Amino acid sequence: MALVRRVNNSFGFVLNTIHCKCIVNIKGLKRESDIMRYSNLAAKKSVIIKISEVGHIEHLKKFCEYYAKIVNVFPYNTIDNNRFVLMECSSQKDVEALRNIAVCKADPEYAHSVTPFFLYKPRVKLSNQNTLNKDSYEYHSNFVTPNLNKINQSLKKIQSVSNQMIFLYDTLRITELNIRLRFYTATQISYYLSQLFVNLSVVPFGSSVNGFGQIGCDLDLLCKTNIPSNDTSGWKKFLFLTQIVPFTDRVEQKHFLDVIGTIIKTCMPGVTDVKKILEARVPIIKFRNLNTNMQCDLCSTNMTALHMSELLYLYGQLDWRVKPLVFTIRKWARSMNLTKENPGQWITNFSLTLLILFYLQTKHILPSLSSIKIFRDKSNTIDNFDWFLKWKNSVSNNDESLSKLLFEFFEYYCFFDFKTHALCLRDGITKLKKDASPLYIYNPFNPSLNVSKNVTLSELLRLVGHFQRASQIMLNSTEQDTLVKLINFDSNSTINGFNRKNKLELISEKFIPNVTNTNNLQKIEKNIIK
Ligand code: GTP
Ligand code: MG
Repeated sequence: MALVRRVNNSFGFVLNTIHCKCIVNIKGLKRESDIMRYSNLAAKKSVIIKISEVGHIEHLKKFCEYYAKIVNVFPYNTIDNNRFVLMECSSQKDVEALRNIAVCKADPEYAHSVTPFFLYKPRVKLSNQNTLNKDSYEYHSNFVTPNLNKINQSLKKIQSVSNQMIFLYDTLRITELNIRLRFYTATQISYYLSQLFVNLSVVPFGSSVNGFGQIGCDLDLLCKTNIPSNDTSGWKKFLFLTQIVPFTDRVEQKHFLDVIGTIIKTCMPGVTDVKKILEARVPIIKFRNLNTNMQCDLCSTNMTALHMSELLYLYGQLDWRVKPLVFTIRKWARSMNLTKENPGQWITNFSLTLLILFYLQTKHILPSLSSIKIFRDKSNTIDNFDWFLKWKNSVSNNDESLSKLLFEFFEYYCFFDFKTHALCLRDGITKLKKDASPLYIYNPFNPSLNVSKNVTLSELLRLVGHFQRASQIMLNSTEQDTLVKLINFDSNSTINGFNRKNKLELISEKFIPNVTNTNNLQKIEKNIIK
């Protein structure tokens, strides 16, 4: 049975997908840069207002409508139980109109700065008539990951693994309000920093914008300088005086972030837990924004990371199976402790996603990066996705179910020759490794770099061991139990029909030459089940 889904949000983007058939409505696809532009603009047209009572929302809306045109209202609760409303106006002029009517009330004994947030305090106690009809708004009370027990209960009611994967995707993905708050948070920081650097803005990247964001994921932010490209007018004699922002030199980058971190800590309302992590491979400022409920990581400019977000976003758009597959594998990997909140010697969500995308390239479900480029250059139609249809018609049409793809993903990497081979998403093929890194994924935008250089041999062994266990679970479970077993699997339990010794021998042969003695096998086994 074909399951037709229509994802239509108030960003105005429509994506029709038909499950069980590999059809995507190409006209509905949007480029990530368009969505970034749209979302940035939506953030600039939005205000955040603190309220004390849920019942004030309707009254607040009526009050604001007297001065400005309001197009969207999103109430939410923060983790520390403060109530806010994100209100989207029809234009930036409407935001200005609200600013003009707001007044400042502050204790003259203390120094105050005016923040971009508002506070709504109705003068009179509101009558019942004016209080909120609770059904008229979708109220977001928290932003924490849905409870695993509840997910399990729901999964058990769904018959097929493929539909369980779709359920997981729908349950875990970040909501529209959450995306809006991410862009608003970036706009708020831009607002402060632009007082120092006129053309500096802060933009989100990573899973907040690449379509693979799960509820509770961090907000990755980077500083971007925008140089207006209006030099066609011929006014060469009258130029802006510019100054190089110290982004490229590592030492200066650290100084720059140090200053930015201090500004964020001392000037920004609602910001707490500011940590300057300047000695890391990528220096960052970590902080929490209490008013928008965001855990943020701010780095200086990193255009490759932006291109990476765009590429992942594009891949997520090209086939409806990509996101449910990625969400399921990411959730599984997190439950198995293969990925962790902090970076380290283990695989990151990002590298894991590249493993999945590469596997889908080998299945001819996704094109290689170079074929995207060829099709784009030839047709010169960057704004539509006709090239993708051409590419799809030029290769076999793969319409395997999500469940089959999940199983074959685990199988594919169980038998992958990690000892000598690397993944190359640019060409969609495996290539020889350039060094002895256990896991080697060519950086799609800089082939001289390995994206997964941080992954140690023991972590790779653990990963492959879990791929094997997962494929065994899939073989030995009923459809209805499969996903629950996968994401709740206790790594100490034994699985029917799983011959650990054979598998370990296979793994050790693959990774470590000349492993014959049992001591070594025991060591490997320890690594795999830890
Ligand atoms: P979440 O776990 O949902 O936050 O996924 P994410 O894609 O946002 O990952 P993360 O916050 O760890 O990293 C943000 C961005 O940094 C990614 O989108 C990549 O562009 C980059 N990045 C993360 N991990 C790696 C890595 O291991 N190697 C490289 N080269 N870049 C990485
Ligand atoms: Mg992230």
